[in-house]
Amino acid sequence: MQLEGKTAVISGGLGDIGRAIGLELGGRGAAIAICDLKSEEQARPFLVDLKSKGISARYDQVDVSDPDAVNTWLDDVTNSLGIPELIIPNAAVVSLVTVRELTPEQWKRELNINLDGAFFMAQSAAKRMIASGLKGRIVFIGSWVGFTPQTHIPAYCVSKAGIRMLTKVLALDLAPFGILVNEVAPGNVDAGLSARIFEMNPEWRERNLKRVPILEMSEAHEVAYQVAHLCDPANRQMTGSVLLMDGGLSLMSGPNPDMTD
Ligand SMILES: NC(=O)c1ccc[n+]([C@@H]2O[C@H](COP(=O)([O-])OP(=O)(O)OC[C@H]3O[C@@H](n4cnc5c(N)ncnc54)[C@H](O)[C@@H]3O)[C@@H](O)[C@H]2O)c1
Repeated sequence: MQLEGKTAVISGGLGDIGRAIGLELGGRGAAIAICDLKSEEQARPFLVDLKSKGISARYDQVDVSDPDAVNTWLDDVTNSLGIPELIIPNAAVVSLVTVRELTPEQWKRELNINLDGAFFMAQSAAKRMIASGLKGRIVFIGSWVGFTPQTHIPAYCVSKAGIRMLTKVLALDLAPFGILVNEVAPGNVDAGLSARIFEMNPEWRERNLKRVPILEMSEAHEVAYQVAHLCDPANRQMTGSVLLMDGGLSLMSGPNPDMTD
C-alpha cells in the first residue's frame, strides 16, 4: 500500500474531517496517531473502528495550543509508532461574532488553537524528520476564508490567512530537506464546524448552498482524499501550494451579506 510504513499525526483527529483523514490515510497503509481535547473514552469507538480495519492507531488527549504538550505527544507517538512523517495540523475552533464584538479572549483562543497550534505541531515534527533524514509531508487544513473575508467569523479568517503564509515559509525553509509542505483549503464542508453553524442557523444552509457555484457542499471524506493526494509519494513537485476545493466559492469575492445578520 501507498503509505505503508509511514506514521501520520492528525490534530483534532476526533472531529469530522480529522476522522475522515485518519480513515483515508490509514486505509492507504499509514499508522495513525490522533490527538484531540476529548477524553480517552470519547476516542474509543473511533480507535476500535480503525483497528477493526487493520489500522495501527493511538489516541492522546492534547491541547495543541500548548507547545510542551505537543512535543510530548510527538515523543510518545515516535516511541510507539515511529517518527511521524505525515503531519496534518487540523484542529480548529470558530466563534460566530463580528469583528466589532469580538473579545480579546475569543481572538486569542482562535489564533492560539488554529494558527499557533498548527505551527507548534509542524515545527516539532519537522525537526524530528530533519534529524532522522525523513522526507515527510506537512499538510495544513486551511480554508477558502483565508483569502476571502467573512464578517461573521473574523478571527477564524485571520487564523486561516496565517496558515496560508505559514505553509509558504515552511515550504521554502524545509524544501532542501525534501519535506513538502502544502495546504488543503476546503469551502463549506457538510460536516464539523460548518455543519454545526448550519444547525444553529438552518436558514443559512440553503442560502449558502445557492451561493456555491457548483451548488454542492463537499463532504469530509473529499477533504481527506485531497490530503491523501498531497501525501502520495508520487506527488513530488507540489510544495507551498494551496489545494483549493471550494466548489468555486472564492470566485464570488466579498463577504456573504446573508450570514452577517
Ligand atoms: N467544516 C468545514 O466546513 C470546514 C471548512 C474549511 C476548513 N475546515 C477546517 O477543517 C478542520 C477540521 O474541522 P471540522 O470541520 O472537522 O471541525 P470539528 O469541530 O469536527 O473538528 C475539530 C476538532 O478539533 C478539536 N480541537 C479543538 N481545539 C483543540 C485543541 N486546542 N487541541 C486539540 N484539538 C482541538 C475539536 O475537539 C474537534 O474534535 C479545521 O481546521 C477547520 O478549520 C472545516
